Amino acid sequence: MKAIVCPRYGSSDVLQLKEVEKPTPKDNETLVKVHAASLNAADFEILRGTRNVRIIGSDIAGRIEAVGRNVKQFQPGVEIWGDLSLHGFGTLAEYVCVPENALRLKPASMTFEEAAAIPTAAVVALQNLCGKGPIKLGQKVLINGAGGGVGTFAVQLAKYFGAEVTGVDSTGKLDMLRSIGADHVIDYTQEDFTENGQQYDLILDVVVHRSVFDYKRALSPKGICVFVGGSMTRVWLNILLGLLISLMGSKKMGLVMWKPNKKEDLVFLQELFESGKIVPVIDRRYPLSEVPEALRYLEEGHALGKVVITVEHH
Ligand SMILES: NC(=O)c1ccc[n+]([C@@H]2O[C@H](COP(=O)([O-])OP(=O)(O)OC[C@H]3O[C@@H](n4cnc5c(N)ncnc54)[C@H](OP(=O)(O)O)[C@@H]3O)[C@@H](O)[C@H]2O)c1
Repeated sequence: MKAIVCPRYGSSDVLQLKEVEKPTPKDNETLVKVHAASLNAADFEILRGTRNVRIIGSDIAGRIEAVGRNVKQFQPGVEIWGDLSLHGFGTLAEYVCVPENALRLKPASMTFEEAAAIPTAAVVALQNLCGKGPIKLGQKVLINGAGGGVGTFAVQLAKYFGAEVTGVDSTGKLDMLRSIGADHVIDYTQEDFTENGQQYDLILDVVVHRSVFDYKRALSPKGICVFVGGSMTRVWLNILLGLLISLMGSKKMGLVMWKPNKKEDLVFLQELFESGKIVPVIDRRYPLSEVPEALRYLEEGHALGKVVITVEHH
């Protein structure tokens, strides 16, 4: 089978499309024929050396091709989706073996591409939005980095929960943010949301690069700031200093522990998808052979929402 192989750490240029042996499922595994995968920041973070993974890719949508003898939930032929972040990655390939407990039945209402766009980014968005307590009707929520994979789901979810939502991103992403429901948009190239005198009840920051004192200024008296991603040095520094600020006053800052592929979250997201409350914003689709280019596009920050990889089987 064909797979995108990561022979060493580096940039997306080190990735190679190779012919590798098709895997055989163990007793508790399914063999999945991959139809679509989507890219996430984790993919280029792994490439830079955070983990040793031969075939990257966490989000998957596909069809079960074969099952090990102890597999109970799935039969060959059924369509599945899921996030393999805790199960060895490997979705940027024609086939991957996956423990059955990592997969969910794909709703018939979703295309493979839509299903592949949701698991990582939407679950990260949902857990970070709700992880410090439920969003209340009318609360002012700001999403910094709103135009990317996580942000586009966060905007729609915050709207679903009844918040007044401000999305912050670069100029070319603002119309899209309005189209998915953002009440207000801020172009970060023109305006600093921590300097404009506005205050927010919840700030979700996907690209943390400010000091905790900036966030503190932009929070309402009982506001909460959640650090989702960005430079890890800055994120960890802010978590430590944010802890001190949280202990000393009414404004809270910190991290929400991510639980990938949580069943209840995927069920909830499926319901929202089916009722039209969330749509995956898919910017571009690339074939498997063009993963290096797709990853470069994502890493350079051009993507409006998600970048999906479609896997053709001939
Ligand atoms: N905490 C968790 O549980 C968890 C779990 C998984 C992943 N993560 C992290 O979450 C992040 C993933 O984000 P993603 O997939 O949504 O990334 P993404 O698709 O690259 O989106 C990032 C967005 O931020 C924008 N941006 C860049 N600089 C900005 C600035 N200074 N101000 C405002 N917006 C800016 C980018 O647009 P432009 O480039 O056009 O500016 C882009 O639209 C990663 O850092 C990942 O490590 C966290």
